[in-house]
Amino acid sequence: MYSKKVMDHFTNPRNMGEIKNPDGEGEVGNPVCGDLMKIYIKVESKDKQEMIKDIKFQTLGCGSAIATSSMVTELAKGKNLKEAQEISRDDVANELEGLPPAKMHCSNLATDALKKAIKDYYSKK
Ligand code: FES
Repeated sequence: MYSKKVMDHFTNPRNMGEIKNPDGEGEVGNPVCGDLMKIYIKVESKDKQEMIKDIKFQTLGCGSAIATSSMVTELAKGKNLKEAQEISRDDVANELEGLPPAKMHCSNLATDALKKAIKDYYSKK
């Protein structure tokens, strides 16, 4: 049911953990399944651009939620905030070589948490 890449990110998640004193953090929950996800970002200004220097996630949820969180952090790391904000759930699913249709909502959680973290960063500035 899951692609090899989903299994890889699920069993060996990248960037899992917490950032102390993050520049932005975003938490989202899925009211249907009860899963929770939190994303932390550290932002660095470089060549007049605000880049995601570090990013970590904590997820209490299903395998897809963990795999999509892991993939979102990989996609966002090193990008500027505008590019990171544009990462869509389809980008995440494509990078993971597909998600079962019933699991697409799990990838929403990851992209929504990232958007919230970026918003939080701007609101603190
Ligand atoms: Fe809840 Fe996947 S089933 S996020």
